[in-house]
Amino acid sequence: MTQAWCGVAAEDLDTIDTTTGLRLAARSRRLLGSLLRPQLCRVRAVLGLIVTNQLALLAGPLLIAVVIDRGIPAALQGRPSALAWCIAGYTVTGAVEALTVGAFLRLSGQIGADLLLDLRERMFAQIQRLSLAFHERYTSGRVISRLTSDLDSLQEMLDEELDGFFVSLLSVLGIGAMLMVLDAPLGLLALAGFIPLGLLTRWYLRHSQHTYRVTRTRIAQVIVHFVETMNGIRAVQAFRRQRRNSSIMDGLSASFADAETEALRLTARFTSAGGLVGSVSVAVILLLGGLRVLAGSLTLGVLAAFVLYLRRFYDPLDELARCADSYSSAVAALEKISGVLEEHPTLSDPSQPVALPVPVRGEVVFDQVRFSYGGPDVLPHLDLVIPAGQTVALVGATGAGKSTVAKLLARFYDPVAGAVRLDGVDLRSVADADLRRAVVILTQESFLFSGSVADNIALGLPSASRAKVVAAAQAVGADDFITALPDGYDTDVCKRGTRLSAGQRQLVSFARALLANPAVLVLDEATSSLDIPAEQAVQAALATVLAGRTALIIAHRLSTVLVADRVLVLADGAVIEDGPPAQLITTPGTFAALHTAWCTALA
Ligand SMILES: Nc1ncnc2c1ncn2[C@@H]1O[C@H](COP(=O)(O)OP(=O)(O)OP(=O)(O)O)[C@@H](O)[C@H]1O
Ligand SMILES: [Mg+2]
Repeated sequence: MTQAWCGVAAEDLDTIDTTTGLRLAARSRRLLGSLLRPQLCRVRAVLGLIVTNQLALLAGPLLIAVVIDRGIPAALQGRPSALAWCIAGYTVTGAVEALTVGAFLRLSGQIGADLLLDLRERMFAQIQRLSLAFHERYTSGRVISRLTSDLDSLQEMLDEELDGFFVSLLSVLGIGAMLMVLDAPLGLLALAGFIPLGLLTRWYLRHSQHTYRVTRTRIAQVIVHFVETMNGIRAVQAFRRQRRNSSIMDGLSASFADAETEALRLTARFTSAGGLVGSVSVAVILLLGGLRVLAGSLTLGVLAAFVLYLRRFYDPLDELARCADSYSSAVAALEKISGVLEEHPTLSDPSQPVALPVPVRGEVVFDQVRFSYGGPDVLPHLDLVIPAGQTVALVGATGAGKSTVAKLLARFYDPVAGAVRLDGVDLRSVADADLRRAVVILTQESFLFSGSVADNIALGLPSASRAKVVAAAQAVGADDFITALPDGYDTDVCKRGTRLSAGQRQLVSFARALLANPAVLVLDEATSSLDIPAEQAVQAALATVLAGRTALIIAHRLSTVLVADRVLVLADGAVIEDGPPAQLITTPGTFAALHTAWCTALA
């Protein structure tokens, strides 16, 4: 069942033992409690309305019994007032019942909607708060399935079944009590039907919860595969992976359908067995009650009321079965959602932040830094001092650890040992907002949000005026292509910036960085998509962007590297060469060899 390729089965379903089950249940209960607490007043009001409604419902058959046994005989003897009172009473209870049903349905609907809103907001905030380490492990598809299918399953329960549950429970309890009052021996007989029903419900809940866990995990796998295919649609089409992806999807969908069928089969068995218990009980009571009426120890009115109640007694049991079903499904969803909500960001904002000097100078120190992503060390021991204002180019073979150095400097991860310091302050002690102002990282991805080009540039400094936005774009040479767009700076970049080329997106993100004006700028292959003329334009712009700040540039191109004051060659997480580019070129070594290769490629 574990599908390693999409990393979904974090909690292997076949191995969920009792302890894990209890832990999951406790986690879901905590979440449900915290969601319900603010709604407590309204929940109480709903319960009050349901109780009133049930009392009104209960009174009906009782009044009918009185009409048959007393009202009609009295009316026949010329005393119609009792009959009139009973009929009036019946009308009033009918009206109360109708009014309370409307009120509690409305109110419980509102509670459900507010609860889901609260949960959705919490989930989204949590997902934005969680560190990169979580997202690299959890995959976007799983996050999406938490936010969609799991929330839907909760919604289904809240919308349809929550009030149904209370109504049914109360009516079973009320009718049970009424049966006992009407006739204790027959009442006990009816209640005896609960013993097989209780056993049946226990059996069902135990099995259905497992089944629904499987269902939730399988639908998550379907969504993960869907999201992966959509995100990689270019690669899918370029490498003609459609057939393979379809067959994976077919397999996943089929196993989801199997899990759903299994859940439905369980529900079907449960419902029909419950119905059977109900019918047998009614038949037995009719038989015994009829015999007693014949023997004269029971009035006809009481037997009629009894049978009327009995029908209402077993009907809610069907409803309870449906509740149990959506409850199991919702609990499985709650388990998953509460798992995400209880994740802690691995990088927490310091409780007592240390202020950076004003203005930030930008001196960066890697002090005996050791780092791993959980496996072997990627950076076994890194010591590095970058004086304020220096531009450093980081080069090295693929997988050498360059991006890792960049991610540590931007504090997407914390070192396992040692510290990264900015102006002498450990990054772990810097408030997140200060850190993001002081250090900006640009990657090859150059992510653009939907909105206008101007909005995307202003991301660097939301308060910036249009003039400043334009000035930043001009400084990096992006102004020409932006003004040529249909609506200039107001052009919507559309989903993920598909209307802009990769190079244009990079220029926009350059302008964004220039506007943000950080003390430290990290460029991770941020110039790799620029063509040669654009790159030459950017070399000039780069000088503007880099002036007056510390910069770490990771580039695979000679021209970008030569802008730097200093080159560091990284191999297996360690610095093996360090010096100004001009000096390294003349000293035999990795960089000199790289330089020769670059020159040959250019020639
Ligand atoms: N999120 C991650 N989880 C686990 N291992 C990772 C992760 N990111 C990178 N690594 C591993 O860490 C090592 C260094 O990766 P890094 O991305 O720093 O290399 P790089 O020098 O930037 O390479 P490239 O030039 O190809 O971008 C590699 O062996 C890589 O497999
Ligand atoms: Mg890299």
